Amino acid sequence: MDTPICDFVREYAEKDSVRLHMPGHKGVDALGCERLDITEISGADVLYHANGIIKRSEENAAKLFGTAKTIYSCEGSSLSIRAMLYLIKLYAVSNGKAPLILSARNAHKTFVTAAAVLDIDVQWLYSKETGIVSCKPDISELENRISELSPTAVYITSPDYIGNIADIEAISEVCRRHGVILAVDNAHGAYLKFLNKPQHPIDLGADICCDSAHKTLPALTGAGYLHISKKAPEMFKTQAQNAMSLFASTSPSYLIMQSLDMTNKLISDGIFEKAEQLFLRLGELKSTLIEHGFELCGDEPAKLSVMPKSYGYTGDELSDILYENNIVCEFSDPDFCVLMFSPCTLEDDISKLESVLLTLPRRQPKLNTSPRLNRLETAIPMNKAVMLPSVEIDVSDAVGRISASATVACPPAIPIAVCGERIDSSAVECFKYYGIKSCLIVDDKFIK
Ligand SMILES: Cc1ncc(COP(=O)(O)O)c(C=O)c1O
Repeated sequence: MDTPICDFVREYAEKDSVRLHMPGHKGVDALGCERLDITEISGADVLYHANGIIKRSEENAAKLFGTAKTIYSCEGSSLSIRAMLYLIKLYAVSNGKAPLILSARNAHKTFVTAAAVLDIDVQWLYSKETGIVSCKPDISELENRISELSPTAVYITSPDYIGNIADIEAISEVCRRHGVILAVDNAHGAYLKFLNKPQHPIDLGADICCDSAHKTLPALTGAGYLHISKKAPEMFKTQAQNAMSLFASTSPSYLIMQSLDMTNKLISDGIFEKAEQLFLRLGELKSTLIEHGFELCGDEPAKLSVMPKSYGYTGDELSDILYENNIVCEFSDPDFCVLMFSPCTLEDDISKLESVLLTLPRRQPKLNTSPRLNRLETAIPMNKAVMLPSVEIDVSDAVGRISASATVACPPAIPIAVCGERIDSSAVECFKYYGIKSCLIVDDKFIK
């Protein structure tokens, strides 16, 4: 597969032109990447009016992902989530309806900020999982809620931060039957397309999704996609660039775009075929750890999520021990320690991890569990709550007050309370459990 963006920038850098354009470093090395960091000079195309090298590169990505349209983001999935919500609102309005999204409760905080600012009504889907990070909706409950609410779209976050994958195929089947859009936050799952048996949401029936290329593909931080499926409403395809440009910087990073361009080539050259052995090795490690007494969770082949309390450690303690052994995890909290792998992981690194985990002395199990969060009452609409003046208070004083921050979130940016919800004692217990000391609440003076 060709790399039109990388080729253009490399040729430009080799010409050693007098750079009387942005960026101000003028190609002079300080970090070492400046020569390749350009702006929208002649021939470089324009990200959200693409008709040259960027368009060709995005078409390569669309071919790899099997989409009708794939658009690059230089601001991660966060930008694509805002664009998805805008498109959903546009779709509702074009059908003469007010937008309503039925979303699994473990949505990333960007979803909440976007819904609040765009004034989209959100109804939440809960599930049997006790933690805040996961929410695999029950299919028959989903169907009942769709019949009751007639939402514009269902919004699912899958995989979640600890590696649980929702049944997107079954969810998409229900959505299709009811004529409801299915949007998926697939920030953690770009690589699912390139497994032996692809599990990417677009393959499983989603209309639209975001992927963070930087999370699981060999791409620079900030690299992401907005994918539109071939069966999505036509307006998603025609309005997608406009939707991204509404929220995006007007100075997108060409380093990130080159990285996305090169990722196409790495994938088409077979980086994932070569990684099969690595994923098998990781699967073996998971089995060994379970035999050894570790409790694991999640369905993702490229993630290892340890729940070490039953082995005598909190997630944070395990993360610290790994760190002392020069192994740095993605995420930890009291309950989980999450490690992420990709085709760029070395098999040796898996062996190092294995030897640290298998030599860790087993201790008395930690019996305390994470507090259970009640379903919080919506006191005022999200949009109203973020648009009213707020005050910061100690969480101990927050019971009964209305949350004003888009989200008060546990560490992976998943809402405990969203704007407009009345904080109760279960929420306060969760804030404390995750080390949150203060929160923004709507200033009472402004509530009518
Ligand atoms: C589930 C989920 N969605 C969206 C995002 C935002 O992605 P990005 O950092 O690429 O903007 C994250 C970030 O961690 C995430 O975990």
